[in-house]
Amino acid sequence: MAYYERIKQFGTKGFLPEGWYWLTSSLSVKTGKAYPIKFLKTELVLYRGEDKVVRAFDAYCPHMGAHLCDGFVEKNSIRCPFHFWKYDEKGVCTEIPAQKDTSKIPGLKAHKVQELYGLIWIWTGENDDQEEIPVVPELKGIPLDYKLGSRFIKNCHPNVVMINAIDIQHFKSVHQLIVDLEMKVTTLSKRCIQFSNTTPVPEKNFLLKFAKRFYKKSLTYEMTYWWGHTGSVMVGPDFLHFYIIFALRPTLDGKTEGQTILVTKKRKGLIGLIINPILLFATKLVGDYFAKGDTIIFTRINFKYQTPIKADKAIIDFVEHYELQNPGLSY
Ligand code: FES
Ligand SMILES: [Fe+2]
Repeated sequence: MAYYERIKQFGTKGFLPEGWYWLTSSLSVKTGKAYPIKFLKTELVLYRGEDKVVRAFDAYCPHMGAHLCDGFVEKNSIRCPFHFWKYDEKGVCTEIPAQKDTSKIPGLKAHKVQELYGLIWIWTGENDDQEEIPVVPELKGIPLDYKLGSRFIKNCHPNVVMINAIDIQHFKSVHQLIVDLEMKVTTLSKRCIQFSNTTPVPEKNFLLKFAKRFYKKSLTYEMTYWWGHTGSVMVGPDFLHFYIIFALRPTLDGKTEGQTILVTKKRKGLIGLIINPILLFATKLVGDYFAKGDTIIFTRINFKYQTPIKADKAIIDFVEHYELQNPGLSY
C-alpha cells in the first residue's frame, strides 16, 4: 500500500481540523456595522458591538432567511433588516415587533471569535475545550509588539505549505543551505507539536566560525504547529530571536490563503519606539523569504506523498500528528 493511501486526514480537501483560523483584519470590522464573511462554506455575519467585542453568527435569519449583514447593530445586539427581529450578543431572539413572546423562537448559531495580532480568528471546534489563539511558545505570557506581514496564495493544500518548513531535504536542494538540520520533535500539548534543530553551526568557513559564537548550542531553527493550519517559526542568534507566525487556511478550490504575522517582545521607552519597528521590518524580510520561496514548485505541484524516506522523518512525525486532529468543520 502506498504511503498516501494510509493517510486519511493529511492533505485531504474537505477535512478541516478543529483550531483557530484567521477570518479578516480587525480594522475591517468597525463598531456598529455588520459584515458578511464567508469562511469556506459557512456564511457568517460579523459585527462589533458597542462594547467593541466582535461577534459572529450564522448569516441567515431563522425567520425567513434574510442576511443579517443588511441589518442593524443595536448596542451589542443585531436586528434583522426584514421584519426587525432582534438577537442579543448570544444570538437569543429578544424582540419581535409583531409579537410579544419570543421564547419559542430559535436563536442564531454563534461562533467563537477572538482578536489577536490585528486579526479576527474563528475557532472551529464543537466542544468547549478551546485553546488560546497560537502564541510562539518562547513569548507566552510576555507583552508583545506585532504587525501583519504579507498575504499570499499557494496552489496546494495548507499541509503542503506547512511541511515545507520542516522539509530538510529541500533546504539543501532548493535553498542551498550548507547546514545539515536535524529536527527533534516535542509534543507541547494535545494540540501543539514542536520541531527544533539540534545541529550546531558548522565551522565550514570564517563567517560561520564567527556566527557560531552567537549560538551557544545548536543553530536556532524551531517550528511550532497547532491543530489546524497555523505554525510559527523562531530563528536567529541567542541574543535576538525572530518570530513569524504563518496563519493558513484552505480555499474551496483547493488552494491555501496565508497571512504572516511578525512578532517581537514589547520593548519599553525610546528603545522600543526605535528598535521594534526595525526588528519587525527585518522579520518581514525573513517571513517573505519563507512565504515566497519555492514559488515555482508550488504553482505546479500535484502533491501525492508516495515515497517517504528516512530524511523525511520530521514530515512523517507531522503527518502522524495531523492524523490525530479532531475534525472541526467540513467543507
Ligand atoms: S427574515 Fe429576519 S425577521 Fe424576518
Ligand atoms: Fe522552501
